[in-house]
Amino acid sequence: MTEKIYVFDTTLRDGEQSPGASMNTAEKLEIARQLVRLGVDVIEAGFPVSSPGDFESVRAIGDEVGDAVVVCALSRAVANDIEVAADALANAKRPRLHTGIGVSESHLRDKLHITGDEALERAVAAVKLARTFVEDVEFYAEDAGRAEPMFLYRVIEAVIAAGATVVNIPDTTGYAYPENFGALIGGLFDHVKGIEDVIVSVHCHNDLGMATANALAGVKAGARQIECTINGIGERAGNTATEEVVMAIRQRPDIFGADTSINTREITRTSRLVSNITGIVVQPNKAIVGANAFAHSSGIHQDGVLKERSTYEIIDPADVGVGGSSIVLSARSGRHALQHRLQELGFELVEEEFEPIYAAFLELADKKKEVYDEDLEALVGESERTVNDVYHLKAVQVVCGEPGIPTATVELVTQDGEHLIDSSHGTGPVDAVYKAINRLIDVPNELSEFSVKAVTRGIDALGEVTIRVTSADGRVFTGRGAHSDIIVASAKAYTNALNRLLTSQKPTITEEL
Ligand code: KIV
Ligand code: ZN
Repeated sequence: MTEKIYVFDTTLRDGEQSPGASMNTAEKLEIARQLVRLGVDVIEAGFPVSSPGDFESVRAIGDEVGDAVVVCALSRAVANDIEVAADALANAKRPRLHTGIGVSESHLRDKLHITGDEALERAVAAVKLARTFVEDVEFYAEDAGRAEPMFLYRVIEAVIAAGATVVNIPDTTGYAYPENFGALIGGLFDHVKGIEDVIVSVHCHNDLGMATANALAGVKAGARQIECTINGIGERAGNTATEEVVMAIRQRPDIFGADTSINTREITRTSRLVSNITGIVVQPNKAIVGANAFAHSSGIHQDGVLKERSTYEIIDPADVGVGGSSIVLSARSGRHALQHRLQELGFELVEEEFEPIYAAFLELADKKKEVYDEDLEALVGESERTVNDVYHLKAVQVVCGEPGIPTATVELVTQDGEHLIDSSHGTGPVDAVYKAINRLIDVPNELSEFSVKAVTRGIDALGEVTIRVTSADGRVFTGRGAHSDIIVASAKAYTNALNRLLTSQKPTITEEL
């Protein structure tokens, strides 16, 4: 019989812990809707006590998704965390509270300064308190990958007796390797009373590049839930990548005898959406969702693939939503064709949202022979990002060259409709533009990262600029901008980052999980 493996998506919680990946509620809602289309079983929507923004996102996602998926909120084994998480989940149709505590020697001694018995007591109290609010309580044994196995089993047995419905065994520091992690999970079934009545979950980090292998070893040993993120984003080196575990399980029924409920054709779209919103670029050679995942370069491979695709491809690209488009969008395409393609890409736009995108599409199509799906995603992302802007970039003009002094003039419009214009010179055109913007938006920050990539193919490609700025209080904000002129894209990216900085809320708890 094929076993069902539950997919617990933590892109919006652990994924958001990636430096610079913070998302606002509207962005989280957009990803949550796509995760529902993808078919995940659980969405971990946030850590409500950490900030008002996280609280609001958990609540909004609970309202939005109805009973399509379980909505989960994280808390530490602290009464106030649990009460706030329960409050954020109050309207969710299928709420789950995720609470836990460190169980490794390192966490007990150096972080929590408590004994193992005290941790066990707190774990049990947390689960009992959580159960007074919701029926579905998941317990995480933080840093289980480095814990003493017999102590871990004692804690897990106690929290099951206290009412936990799911027990999560995280390799928090990415220290485990597949053989020992599989043995740790297998040991639960030999040593823990009641384990057959709960779901065993695995949550692996990628510090040694083994998050996917470790999670799969856990499944082989009896785990029935995998915690993962789209594109593998997450704290430090990230988490197990959803697309990798899902496709591994699907491609190898001979090994796993299991499957997930994921609609794999939504994988690529989900990956692009998460990358667009977080600004975290997917490396080209990334498994399943990288730009080169289905590209064949050598003559020998091309010859083989042309004769029979499966000679060099173990996955049909169509199964993960790559390719399949037959409508070529160009300056001759009308509203209908564009609307149709946008719908196919998963964008449901009302008329007021569609019209500016159509205008931007025509402007771009005039400059390019063909407009690709990636161009459209960039255009839609761009318009969504500008909705609540404090400052809107109206115009940018540069003079540069050799010899000459790079000079830029920038015009911004405020939310009240006031037009602000200023100029500056700089070491290059982008520097001049950023200095001109700084003269208009006086907000202290430091530019910590700047990257440009072509979103599409060809000399007429749309350039996308991603930047990171650090505010005076050390928070990192991502800004993105796309345009066929990369100086304009750079100006848009900087304005976008400053808008995010100006509208952000400060977290109230800064402790990393
Ligand atoms: O890595 C970890 O241990 C976590 C827990 C909060 C589940 O993210
Ligand atoms: Zn984690």
